Amino acid sequence: MSETSPKLRAELEGIPTYKPGKPAAAGGPAAYKLSSNENPYPPLPGVMETVAASASAFNRYPDMACTALTAELAERFGVPASHVATGTGSVGVAQQLLQATSGPGDEVIYAWRSFEAYPIITRISGAASVQVPLTPGDVHDLDAMADAITDRTRLIFVCNPNNPTGTVVRRSELERFLDRVPGDVLVVLDEAYREFIRDTEVPDGVEIYRERRNVCVLRTFSKAYGLAGLRVGFAIAHEPVAAALRKTAVPFGVSQIAQDAAVASLRAEDELIGRVGSLVCERNRVMDALRTQGWTVPETQANFVWLRLGESTVPFAQACEQAGVVVRPFPGEGVRVTIGETEANDIFLKVTEGFRKGV
Ligand SMILES: Cc1ncc(COP(=O)(O)O)c(C=O)c1O
Repeated sequence: MSETSPKLRAELEGIPTYKPGKPAAAGGPAAYKLSSNENPYPPLPGVMETVAASASAFNRYPDMACTALTAELAERFGVPASHVATGTGSVGVAQQLLQATSGPGDEVIYAWRSFEAYPIITRISGAASVQVPLTPGDVHDLDAMADAITDRTRLIFVCNPNNPTGTVVRRSELERFLDRVPGDVLVVLDEAYREFIRDTEVPDGVEIYRERRNVCVLRTFSKAYGLAGLRVGFAIAHEPVAAALRKTAVPFGVSQIAQDAAVASLRAEDELIGRVGSLVCERNRVMDALRTQGWTVPETQANFVWLRLGESTVPFAQACEQAGVVVRPFPGEGVRVTIGETEANDIFLKVTEGFRKGV
């Protein structure tokens, strides 16, 4: 066999690989997975039946335009159907946004630490990442992000709430930031955890999109709606951007099962609201308990909490796993822990208590 290999793009050298949350090992000590910000609930009522019915037709390609889902979303948000673009999870749509806007010589700004896919998909596009550190309180530093804009900036991610810290940016600071962004730079409001927000000062990105042509909102069915495994997310954006998303979409990327499950989930809204409410109650209980134990935890508006543990991150994650829950360590920085089943949250709180006491 020849010694030469096909030439690959230089951008792929040294690309960080996406580290998925570790699963709970079958038969291992860790029975609960709190490492991927998933929803602990089973599918919403009616969704399994819908999926079973769609499954009987998977010898056929799906509806490439996601017509029914797009129409349902357009009606729900009060936007033209042409402003809705679907994709294989919101990370898939984010990658399409980069393909549509950015390439070699361009710059993409985002806070850091934030969603770990941003550096990966930016690198793949050929553009350069401009990472702006979070404030000491683990919040987006929007002034510094605006200062970082240059003639090369093509796209800015604002992750609200931020993954992995759960922190939010509020209406007035976001509006002030947007006023400083040139109209030809796309601002992507990544609202993967929107449904868990209870702080009324946090704006709904869709309302901001209505006022600004350079704002695009990303949402997903993976978190509150519990369809992470089916891979469906969407953007709401003005016509030129939404049209570009249709051009960059992987043909037939969203399966018919995913499309039908998403529509059925939207129609099970009452149950969804109840479940999200229960998770928010659990989040509040966990936050209160952590603070009572003496931890300093940033205020979270998502379905996870962030503990800045520095060098203790890995030993803490190991202690959690031994106790029965898998969490998401970012070595040297901190641990992100998803709010899961009550029993799982209780195990986590036992570990944090032991850690505080140095046990
Ligand atoms: C902030 C943020 N955006 C987007 C995503 C992608 O979710 P999905 O591709 O499942 O829609 C995630 C998933 O963890 C996330 O945390």
